Amino acid sequence: MGLLAFNLLVLFLTALVAFYKWSTRNLNYWKIRKIPHIKPAPVVGNYWELLLGKVNVAEKYREFYHQMKDVKYFGILIGTYPALLIKDPGLIMRILVKDFRYFYDRGFHVSDSDVLGTNLFFLRNPKWKLLRNKTVSVFSSAKLKSSFDILDKCSDDLIDYLNENAHKKEWPTRQLMGDAMTDIVCKAICGLEIHSIKNPSREHVAMQNMAFASSFRGFARNTINFFSPYLAKKVHIFPRILHTYFDDLTWKTIEMRKEKNIRRSDLLQLLLEVYEQEQMLPAENRVLSRELFVSNIFIMILAGYETSTTTSSLTLHELAHHPDIQDKVRKEIKQVTRESGGKITYDSLKKMKFLDQVLSETLRIYPLANMIFRECMEEYNIPGTDHVIEKGVFVQLPTLALHTDPALWKDPETYNPDRFSEENSASIIPGSYSPFGDGPRICIGKRFALLQLKLVLSKILLHYEVSPCEKTRRHNPLTKNSLLSVPEGVFWLNFTKVMQ
Ligand code: HEM
Repeated sequence: MGLLAFNLLVLFLTALVAFYKWSTRNLNYWKIRKIPHIKPAPVVGNYWELLLGKVNVAEKYREFYHQMKDVKYFGILIGTYPALLIKDPGLIMRILVKDFRYFYDRGFHVSDSDVLGTNLFFLRNPKWKLLRNKTVSVFSSAKLKSSFDILDKCSDDLIDYLNENAHKKEWPTRQLMGDAMTDIVCKAICGLEIHSIKNPSREHVAMQNMAFASSFRGFARNTINFFSPYLAKKVHIFPRILHTYFDDLTWKTIEMRKEKNIRRSDLLQLLLEVYEQEQMLPAENRVLSRELFVSNIFIMILAGYETSTTTSSLTLHELAHHPDIQDKVRKEIKQVTRESGGKITYDSLKKMKFLDQVLSETLRIYPLANMIFRECMEEYNIPGTDHVIEKGVFVQLPTLALHTDPALWKDPETYNPDRFSEENSASIIPGSYSPFGDGPRICIGKRFALLQLKLVLSKILLHYEVSPCEKTRRHNPLTKNSLLSVPEGVFWLNFTKVMQ
């Protein structure tokens, strides 16, 4: 063997040993700390099936959850990084709310050059807190009430469209709701007239889908985050083409408004006011940069679109399979609307208690977010134990597993909105149900989402009855490789006009 070949062999073996040492450094992390755990494998930890994209994340976490019986929490390794899964609702409430100061970040690592990635969802402290404080007022009840007319008009457009096409009984509900929600979200957030219901090119919907699509890229970026924060910063969360598209969309709209002296009561305007106030401050005191402004408009459009599209389609899908529940909710909508002079208003939606229960139940069975996650920011002693969560450890709350745990819910697989009635909801254990998360990092758009969903669904159900058609599939598998747990398919349903 020549000297060069020998040196190369030594180099290769040294690299191999170094890699093995690095990849197994945390293999006994949980064992050493005497914390219950699932035995991990070198390099991939407990994530090999997820890395191969063979299973849905939320379903895999539900499997972990039931594998670890009679424990309040347990450890896994995401690759080589330790993560603690919490099963105990009491501890969940502490992490999200009471002891939030130990868990204020989600654990994402985003580079400053990843413009669309630097939004409220992914941002770390202290930037997150400053930005949240600046933007939270945009979602206040008063501001939402002032944008109600915009939502109202867009949901009327959907009903007009259905009426114009009443001969067409079968609808791919997910696509229909996706188009309707795009129009609503773009109008309510940016005042943009997208008309995706009528626009066959669907350019904007395609852009939104690109961001959330069940793509290997998105999933891989998300996973790299937990494997190597260093590498994660090198890979942008969203494709650059999306940045160009949304940057253009936002600033062209603002320029057009300035030129024509248009003022609206939409979220863009409200955020623009915050941005303009900031421009008066010295540069070092500004929070909302031009880039942050665009990335936050982007995340609001994206979050408002995907979550509401899926939740409204799944609600209609469940109601189609539960005609008794559908009749009950329609009866309520009709009665409240009659009492409000024949019109659905901001205040009348608040009176639709059963509709609220229906939505809560949809979000229990289909919680959308794969999980809620936090990073431990400071050593945390788990109350009542001698276990410690160390700084840098990921803490994960498996929402689907919690929402469907028979120990927490009676007949968890049954769609039953009555579990959220006034008398029954008192028995829901805090921490066992959190489709919007909880605590200071709770979904900022929760109120907007519920308003938008209730308005659209009440109008559809007032005018149309939904039922399964030949193409309907009762159960659809959850998408794999995705940041959200969304059932596959378009949810074909029959829409039949209701006699008024
Ligand atoms: C059915 C609808 C929706 C669901 C189920 C949902 C769910 C969630 C969940 C689970 C979180 C994480 C909360 C946590 O970690 O504690 C979240 C965060 C967030 N959501 Fe939503 N969401 C919905 C609609 C919306 C809408 C309409 C918007 C904006 C218009 C929005 C914007 C956001 C933002 C910006 C965050 C990050 C908040 C922060 O870290 O401060 N979401 N959402």
